[in-house]
Amino acid sequence: MIWPDSRLLDLLGIDHPIIQAPMAGASTPALVEAVSNAGALGGFGATDCTPEELRTVIRDIRRRTHRPFIINLYLERNGAEEPEQGRVAVLRDALAPLYAELAAGAMPDPKPLFQDFEAQIAVVIEERVPVFSAHFGAPPPEIIRALKAAGTRILGTATTVDEARILEAGGVDALIAQGSEAGGHRGTFASPVEQAMIGTLALVPQVVDAVRVPVIAAGGIMDGRGLAAALALGAAGVQMGTAFVACPENDVHPAYRARLLQADARDAVLTAAVSGQPARLLRNRLVEVLEAHADAALPFARQYSLTTALRRTAAVRGDAEFLTMWAGQGVGLARSLPAAELVRRLVAEAEARMQQLNGRPTVGRQVEVTHHAAG
Ligand SMILES: Cc1cc2nc3c(=O)[nH]c(=O)nc-3n(C[C@H](O)[C@H](O)[C@H](O)COP(=O)(O)O)c2cc1C
Repeated sequence: MIWPDSRLLDLLGIDHPIIQAPMAGASTPALVEAVSNAGALGGFGATDCTPEELRTVIRDIRRRTHRPFIINLYLERNGAEEPEQGRVAVLRDALAPLYAELAAGAMPDPKPLFQDFEAQIAVVIEERVPVFSAHFGAPPPEIIRALKAAGTRILGTATTVDEARILEAGGVDALIAQGSEAGGHRGTFASPVEQAMIGTLALVPQVVDAVRVPVIAAGGIMDGRGLAAALALGAAGVQMGTAFVACPENDVHPAYRARLLQADARDAVLTAAVSGQPARLLRNRLVEVLEAHADAALPFARQYSLTTALRRTAAVRGDAEFLTMWAGQGVGLARSLPAAELVRRLVAEAEARMQQLNGRPTVGRQVEVTHHAAG
């Protein structure tokens, strides 16, 4: 496959312009291994890791693959301030019946969830990680300088043209333009979220026109058609999360994977009521109860900490009504395939689609796009 745009391939040292989104709580070293060895770029979402765990993960990935990979961290660390007790009381009342139903004990007091960013990024720098990506803003200049000195490529996430300009000025090597279809947390950091709900089709070409660094399209891209479309918009590559959630190599609950494979776009709702930051995930009872009390939501990620024990108990029981199942609007196109096979199909499908668009039908090697079916 000869890709029409090699900027991202040259920058990141990969064969295909496909990035498997780093997914906190879902991506694993085995997933990264499969994707990176298939010539795309695997990513590990390390926000939840202690610095020691992060070092172990990086070394594990290095044992599994000699190819480049991403380590990703959230920059959003608010939630340090004490939450309003009135809100906590409302949420305690709302969640008490769910805790009782699952026999999950008492709702814990809200607490900040994240590990110490300074200590985490120090590990990323010391370990000379090939690619670092940030969600929720631009890393501070001294961290950008230290990463560059360590030979690390830096990606940032923009949800508006202004954010893209801020990130480029901050020194990132490439930009992820995250459209509003995307699964997981919106990376918005410089606008009110309601002004940053821009679909991938509208966002990508406007970001491409505004910056010089390569742009990576994210949000709603599930197959080779989406990849070809992103390249047509001027993106140098794509980042895909939801499509990789169904891969057996990752760490999601089988009940989540099963729901994902049955869901359609209507099920993938955007709400700040689950974690405290707007994020897209599959609707279930947990989402409905939290949404009904959205006015009382605590800051990110103290809000998320209120349901930790509930979600753990639900996982033990295999009850998808109380799991958080991050997914984007492309979910109806999810396929249950091993990650390397998914990468192979994405490449073949994009090639076929680009040939068709060039007026050269792929006679004799038509690539079928089949969804929601293994194999
Ligand atoms: C399960 C899941 C977890 C995610 N976790 C992270 C994360 O830890 N860090 C991050 O930068 N983006 C995360 N994202 C967002 C992705 O980077 C990306 O923007 C999104 O998946 C693109 O949209 P798509 O899901 O439609 O492919 C996550 C997405 C999903 C579906």
